[in-house]
Amino acid sequence: MISETFWRGKSVIVTGGSSGIGRAVGEALAAVGTRVGLIARRREPLVATAAAIRRLGGMTEEEACDVTDAAALAAAVASLERRLGECEVAVASAGIHRTSWPLDAAIAADVIDVNVKGCIHLAAAVLPGMLSRRRGWFCGIASIAGVVGLPGNAAYCASKAAVVAFLESVRLDAAAEGVRVTTALPGVIDTPMITNAERAAGGVMPADVAAVRILRGIERGRAEVWFPRRTAIAARAARSLPPRIRDAFLRRQPRLEEPGGD
Ligand SMILES: NC(=O)c1ccc[n+]([C@@H]2O[C@H](COP(=O)([O-])OP(=O)(O)OC[C@H]3O[C@@H](n4cnc5c(N)ncnc54)[C@H](OP(=O)(O)O)[C@@H]3O)[C@@H](O)[C@H]2O)c1
Repeated sequence: MISETFWRGKSVIVTGGSSGIGRAVGEALAAVGTRVGLIARRREPLVATAAAIRRLGGMTEEEACDVTDAAALAAAVASLERRLGECEVAVASAGIHRTSWPLDAAIAADVIDVNVKGCIHLAAAVLPGMLSRRRGWFCGIASIAGVVGLPGNAAYCASKAAVVAFLESVRLDAAAEGVRVTTALPGVIDTPMITNAERAAGGVMPADVAAVRILRGIERGRAEVWFPRRTAIAARAARSLPPRIRDAFLRRQPRLEEPGGD
């Protein structure tokens, strides 16, 4: 359960709000009187998600925008703030996954652009307001793939490692000015980003459960939230191994593939 006392009346902006984890965050907030601004590129899924949130009793507005475009994202945030009130909580969930072995520079650049620049652009758009009010919460959805390398996923892992480091650094500066920064490190979550083979392999967490973990992490001011538990323990253990043994362990991990490939 999330805290109704914390979330009621707050204005929250979620990038990647039209699908998967971002959508589940919006739907979880619908029931507790939060105003939710949704951002993603494609209008149709955005409108469908907004309609679902309204059916659940939530108040929501949407803006179609590409998070790789800093100016467009700043304008989308400003537009949502005019309609929903000053953004008090922001969740950077927009992201893409592409396999990167064999390595393709253009595909890797796309992954970095969306996953890293998208998070930085949202932070740049919302933090000035939060810092001036000396109050706010920023959460980025990184990944356990940001703390261990996974086969076939060099660009995705690099992008998530960058998000982990970016948020850790921002957290140090923002804390002194009243703004909390939470890094979410999910394992495999059941969203359109994963393949049926990953689903069948087990250990997959439903998106609504992941959303609650993230929202509870934010409301409790946690620096990091890692889930599911078993994946988090394995990743932490892998990190502590000597590199040669860690590589042998990680080489045996299943490759994360792009949906559509199965
Ligand atoms: N699912 C997992 O197992 C898992 C695990 C760890 C971390 N994560 C991370 O969690 C976040 C959410 O992933 P998900 O699983 O919910 O994936 P998803 O269901 O595919 O949702 C991705 C969302 O990001 C939006 N998006 C993608 N590119 C965008 C862009 N350039 N500008 C604006 N919006 C964009 C998509 O909408 P449009 O395509 O319409 O723009 C969609 O709303 C991602 O950062 C992902 O890396 C996921």
